[in-house]
Amino acid sequence: NLKLILVFILAYLLGSFPTGVIVGKIFFAEDIRDYGSGNIGTTNSFRVFGPVAGSFVLIVDVLKGTLATSLPRLFHLPGPKYLLLISGGLAILGHTCSIFLKFKGGKAVATSAGLFLGYNLKFFAVCAVIFLPLVFITSYVSLSSLIAVVLIFIATFFFHDIFLEVIVGCIMIILFVRHRSNIKRLIHHQENIIPFGLWYWY
Ligand code: G3P
Repeated sequence: NLKLILVFILAYLLGSFPTGVIVGKIFFAEDIRDYGSGNIGTTNSFRVFGPVAGSFVLIVDVLKGTLATSLPRLFHLPGPKYLLLISGGLAILGHTCSIFLKFKGGKAVATSAGLFLGYNLKFFAVCAVIFLPLVFITSYVSLSSLIAVVLIFIATFFFHDIFLEVIVGCIMIILFVRHRSNIKRLIHHQENIIPFGLWYWY
């Protein structure tokens, strides 16, 4: 089905859009990859460029996942609902292995949240309830993302949706692989802390 293939390519390209890099180059004439953790994502955009740019990167990177997940519906493609997850999954692939960044990219947190938002609002709400308090308690976005994705994977079993279980399982693996440098820094007590949250003030 040609339309489906085009939708999948579009989803990958959407995910590939390197928001953090573009924002840095256009508004700050800097390459975000040269600063902070070197990552192109929301956390490093906050760290390097401040809350306005960080919020913008967060919104766009989340929406990439949401829009990609919605593409099969927007194009009126019939078929099983796992097509939505494949489409959203391709945006995550694009975000982590961007065609515009020589197949390098981000750590998949915001775009995965976008996939959840596009697929199932209730599930997205559960993810937010798991993730946000962790950030507030630990003051580490990386650590919160890793703990959250494990808890979110466990939460999928309450949704009785095998496709959701599989995609979150894949996302969990991607997150751990992409956060290898963060895990090393956490172990050596060198991870970047964010300037709010209980652990920071403690
Ligand atoms: O946004 C990804 C987050 O989990 C870690 O980002 O820049 O601290 O490596 P960063």
